[in-house]
Amino acid sequence: MIPAETSENVLQNSHIINHQNVMISLKNIEKVYRTDTVETLALNNISLNINKGEFLSIMGPSGCGKSTLLNIMGLLDAPTRGEVSIDKHDTTQLNDKKLAAFRNRKLGFIFQSYHLINDLQVLDNVELPLLYRNSSAKERRQLSIEALEKVGLSNRMKHFPTQLSGGQKQRVAIARAIVGQPEIILADEPTGNLDSAMGSEIMDILLQLNERDGTTIVMVTHDENMARKTHRLVRLFDGTQVQ
Ligand SMILES: Nc1ncnc2c1ncn2[C@@H]1O[C@H](COP(=O)(O)OP(=O)(O)O)[C@@H](O)[C@H]1O
Ligand SMILES: [Mg+2]
Repeated sequence: MIPAETSENVLQNSHIINHQNVMISLKNIEKVYRTDTVETLALNNISLNINKGEFLSIMGPSGCGKSTLLNIMGLLDAPTRGEVSIDKHDTTQLNDKKLAAFRNRKLGFIFQSYHLINDLQVLDNVELPLLYRNSSAKERRQLSIEALEKVGLSNRMKHFPTQLSGGQKQRVAIARAIVGQPEIILADEPTGNLDSAMGSEIMDILLQLNERDGTTIVMVTHDENMARKTHRLVRLFDGTQVQ
């Protein structure tokens, strides 16, 4: 959980909206990418509420806007139009510094290609999100070991990412995502690079985080079987929600 005084600090000027149990609220989201020559409408008027404790999956063909949508939910990217509220806080009211703090406290990210730092040992990779907080080295270490235990990798703490299998790398990435005990996990095709056995292992860990810890999870996937295990499926096509 987030220490109350800190989360107050981060959120003190944000606007409160009134939806009990809604964790992520998107309202009329539009995203246009502009380059010198082309304009792409990546998201077209998406409105979506995701409840606390919900496990939602997002599917759709390549280029339909899944990653864009996830990045907007994760405050990594801003919409061209529309509102994004996280845990009842209107994020358009947050300046960059508060946005970064909010992201660090509330959200954990998992990507298809792991995004680990190859020069750092597993334990140091997992500790990274905690460096932006005021915790001691000892606390950081303790929390990182606990996160690695949760994903069954406490026996690989001193390894480097290049010495691990794909499934193990993704487990390290999950440990890094959960080390700060975020209430929300956003996963962009977390099993996309894995064979089906390793993919199921990763899916089981995500299901456990959702069921046991009540973590709200949004997962982009190409795998109907994985999507079927989640509470709800949203389908996108050409930037529009079709289911
Ligand atoms: N940074 C960017 N600049 C320009 N166009 C982009 C950028 N990122 C994504 N797009 C375009 O937006 C659309 C949606 O992309 P994306 O969200 O990555 O799709 P998906 O994750 O479903 O494959 C695509 O047409 C893509 O080419
Ligand atoms: Mg994508």
